[in-house]
Amino acid sequence: MFQPALQDGHNRRVSYVRISVTDRCNLRCRYCSSPAFNSHFREEILSYEEIVRLVRVLVTMGIDKVRLTGGEPLTRRHLDTLVTQIAAIDGIRDISLTTNGVLLEELAPTLKAAGLKRINISLDTLRRDRFCEITGRDYFARVQAGIRHAFKAGFDPVKLNVVVMRGVNDDEIVDFARLTLEYPLHIRFIEYMPIGSTSDWSGRKMVTGAEVLSLISADLGRLEAVAAAPGSPARLYRLDRALGRIGVIAAMSEHFCASCNRIRVTADGRLRPCLLSDREFDLKGLLRRGAGDDEIAALVRRAVAGKSVAHAMSCNAERKCARVMATIGG
Ligand code: 5AD
Repeated sequence: MFQPALQDGHNRRVSYVRISVTDRCNLRCRYCSSPAFNSHFREEILSYEEIVRLVRVLVTMGIDKVRLTGGEPLTRRHLDTLVTQIAAIDGIRDISLTTNGVLLEELAPTLKAAGLKRINISLDTLRRDRFCEITGRDYFARVQAGIRHAFKAGFDPVKLNVVVMRGVNDDEIVDFARLTLEYPLHIRFIEYMPIGSTSDWSGRKMVTGAEVLSLISADLGRLEAVAAAPGSPARLYRLDRALGRIGVIAAMSEHFCASCNRIRVTADGRLRPCLLSDREFDLKGLLRRGAGDDEIAALVRRAVAGKSVAHAMSCNAERKCARVMATIGG
């Protein structure tokens, strides 16, 4: 029952799905969540059975790469069993996780054993007091331990995602970059995007990838461009003698929509073809109505066919995406 490979209306192959497994989170980052935000009830979230069924169908359409996100994915119980089941699907080539790292100390070895290939950890500051301010929780030490244990469990490289916000953490860009001299970390600086109607995003808070790179090279010397993995949204660089890499994800100032290869599934089971567009398709409804694989595939195909050529957000956007990031999945 293999189907023609998924392709959108602009000749882009879609081979990568990012699945949010929960919209719950053990942090309350100002830009990602909102004080008024209530997570969905358990029954409204896709079950592991539903997620696995969906991935099976997607694999027949040429998807071979899965990332689990959230919310905080590690707050969902027995995530390793989901990893095991997805990793066992014939045709899955890569399975990865984006986490805030808070629970990683305990879970990294189990996830590795379950077949997880790669881990990205979100961390916007290296200072404990600032971590508390940004996230509303005093868990900086736990995240540090989480990063150490990711290495210890054998994940290599470990990537750190840093959302750069002017006046919040832009004074730490060089400190983060310096970490790559000593550790095989990939530090990826992400441009702040207008997501979540209640977030405090504004064009002025955004620091562009170009600005990040020039700040780093002014302090730490030349950045040599190195090849990023195919399909990666990051541009990658290396400081002289560095063990790690520095990446910038310039989704706003130099968007990479032309090479977009991905779709997203929200925790409540909606297919979201573009992070920065609120257009969604109800997969959960289909799954729960007892739809056949062909019906699910048809919905996916229709959603992908309509992927727009590029997102409509700009650095001076007046409109933000309605959903908060915690419910979309990073
Ligand atoms: N802009 C840019 N990055 C964001 N993330 C969450 N919200 C935003 C935003 N508005 C990041 C998370 C995570 C990654 C998947 O997305 O910090 O690292």
